[in-house]
Amino acid sequence: MKAITIPQPGDASALVLTDVPDPLPAPGEVRIRMAAAGVNRADVMQRMGFYAPPPGASEYPGLEVSGTVDAVGDGVDGWSAGDEVCALLSGGGYAELVCVPVEQVLPVPTGVSLADAAALPEVVSTVWSNVFMTANLLPGQTFLVHGGSSGIGTMAIQLAREVGARVAVTAGSADKLEVCRELGAEILVNYREQDFVEKLRAATAGAGADVILDNMGAKYLARNVDALAPNGRLVVIGLQGGAKAELDLGQLLRKRAAVIATSLRARPADEKATIVAAVREHVWPLIGAGRVQPVIHGRYPLAQAAEAHRELEASGHIGKILLTP
Ligand SMILES: NC(=O)c1ccc[n+]([C@@H]2O[C@H](COP(=O)([O-])OP(=O)(O)OC[C@H]3O[C@@H](n4cnc5c(N)ncnc54)[C@H](OP(=O)(O)O)[C@@H]3O)[C@@H](O)[C@H]2O)c1
Repeated sequence: MKAITIPQPGDASALVLTDVPDPLPAPGEVRIRMAAAGVNRADVMQRMGFYAPPPGASEYPGLEVSGTVDAVGDGVDGWSAGDEVCALLSGGGYAELVCVPVEQVLPVPTGVSLADAAALPEVVSTVWSNVFMTANLLPGQTFLVHGGSSGIGTMAIQLAREVGARVAVTAGSADKLEVCRELGAEILVNYREQDFVEKLRAATAGAGADVILDNMGAKYLARNVDALAPNGRLVVIGLQGGAKAELDLGQLLRKRAAVIATSLRARPADEKATIVAAVREHVWPLIGAGRVQPVIHGRYPLAQAAEAHRELEASGHIGKILLTP
């Protein structure tokens, strides 16, 4: 099969289309023939040599795919060759074939095409696990997501809106904020021009956010803690602004607030299985009913994965960028 390999970490040109052996499904795995693969910020980090695949994972990049089941390993029930699926991966999505534990496979939701379903598994699993399973966002609470127009952000806005939360976003342009507004965000902050703490306080009578989903890490830590409401939960999932910063525990203590940081890729298989089962139970019906939809910016053939990375890094996109075979 053909896969994108990374012979030497580096800029986008480090991604090389290569002939490699077909993977064989181990017991409990299905093999999927890729129809589309999601491009994620984590793939850029892996390409640069900063985010090695966890032990046992495919060395090729790619954390989510859609496609057709092509072979099944021993002991797999419920899926057979020809089924149209999408899946959460620990790696290997940038390839014509990928093997994945059956617990990380989902049906293509009603109303979504096979080609679009690759935009869902990683973002939905990340948002559902962090915002709802970990931070327990509730109806009527205020939710702030940084990078509202990102792949993660566009899904987080929709899911928070669906549970009846009030949604605040940051983004870097008026166009991106407008898309966030159309998706359901109410409090819109252009991070290049405005201070999100001030704007959030003004919009919540001084209360702040009950839950914050953060992609910036160190750069926003102090301001995120400032922006938290009493009993607030800050969940850091990205380190685009660095990993090390000072944390004022006194402020956390007074607010009875929590700071949590997670990585989905590094979670053990049983936790991924729990998350995927919860996504199927809680989010798939919302997608099937047409209430929540993937936001797709564009597509590139696998052979042009480097172009896809350049576009993601230039940050002109809104929503997801996908690869096709
Ligand atoms: N821990 C996990 O398990 C996990 C899983 C998936 C994703 N993530 C993380 O989630 C984040 C989003 O991932 P993605 O794949 O959806 O990436 P993406 O589409 O490339 O989005 C990156 C976002 O960062 C925003 N950004 C840049 N500078 C900012 C600033 N100063 N303030 C606020 N936002 C800023 C960009 O906004 P503009 O374009 O408006 O500048 C863009 O929306 C990444 O940090 C990724 O690593 C973590």
